[in-house]
Amino acid sequence: MISRVWAQSNTFMPVEATHFAGQVDSLYSFLLISSMVACLLLIGGMIVLVIKYRRRSADDKTAYITHNTALEFLWSFVPFVIFMLVFVWGWWLYYEQRNFPKDAFEVLVTGQKWNWEFTYKSGKSSSELYVPIGESVKLLMTSRDVIHSFFIPSMRIKQDVIPNRYTSIWFKADKEGEFQVFCTEFCGTGHSQMLSKVIVLSRPEFDRWLEEDPFRGKTMAEVGQALLTTKGCTACHSIDGAKMVGPTFKSLFETPVPLADGSTATADENYLRESILNPGAKIVAGFPAGAMPTFQGQIKDKEILAIIEFIKTLK
Ligand code: CUA
Repeated sequence: MISRVWAQSNTFMPVEATHFAGQVDSLYSFLLISSMVACLLLIGGMIVLVIKYRRRSADDKTAYITHNTALEFLWSFVPFVIFMLVFVWGWWLYYEQRNFPKDAFEVLVTGQKWNWEFTYKSGKSSSELYVPIGESVKLLMTSRDVIHSFFIPSMRIKQDVIPNRYTSIWFKADKEGEFQVFCTEFCGTGHSQMLSKVIVLSRPEFDRWLEEDPFRGKTMAEVGQALLTTKGCTACHSIDGAKMVGPTFKSLFETPVPLADGSTATADENYLRESILNPGAKIVAGFPAGAMPTFQGQIKDKEILAIIEFIKTLK
């Protein structure tokens, strides 16, 4: 059984799930503390001097000051050293993050409005990123539509995901559990629902998961329900009757559907299949045209049938 423990953080930073996270947090703490010290010195010094050298009488005159070489050198040189330190520190972390280990385990990540799909070399795909603990994982990423951005706060990694191009990022998880994935590039209506999880498992558990056949031991409807999440359908279609970007699936099967052109269609198997493969063919009245991407070539016949079987159960 896969252990599903949400890793909780005790600090205001997300839980550190990779060695890299501690290094990023150290730099962040340094920036925070040095900024606070600088702020205190600057604002505190200003307040002290304003009080100390305030005008005391009508003929109080300020002394004629030209410059102070030692002071001017210090307030230029000390910040310069701190800025260079931050630059070299940041560059070093960036360099480490952009240098891919040769033996990394590769996973293809596809972003589309509005879900993430993770494809493994075995051909298996999933809506959640399963990875083995203690092994370098390289993500090869692309988008089917607009620019998205892949972000795992606990791994302290973030990288834009761009159509017609591959971008990469890597990490090595050193904590088992579940970690949140966000899209951090505004990509349309469903942006805030473009979520996923990283699930870090031991190598034997991971191997077991990788070999699992999603159809084995499950009914078609159960597989269909899982596919609605995997394929991102639930970002726009509810199964409980709530109105979202697209029509709900509740009580949909074999009911008349009013269309935008004034005609009516019946939501039978052929209608559902057509709506998955060619979403523009029949637009439901009251819903935007062109909101749904086609799933042509991205879904197997068996998967379409499984989804239809699940929709049939939503009475
Ligand atoms: Cu994808 Cu925001």
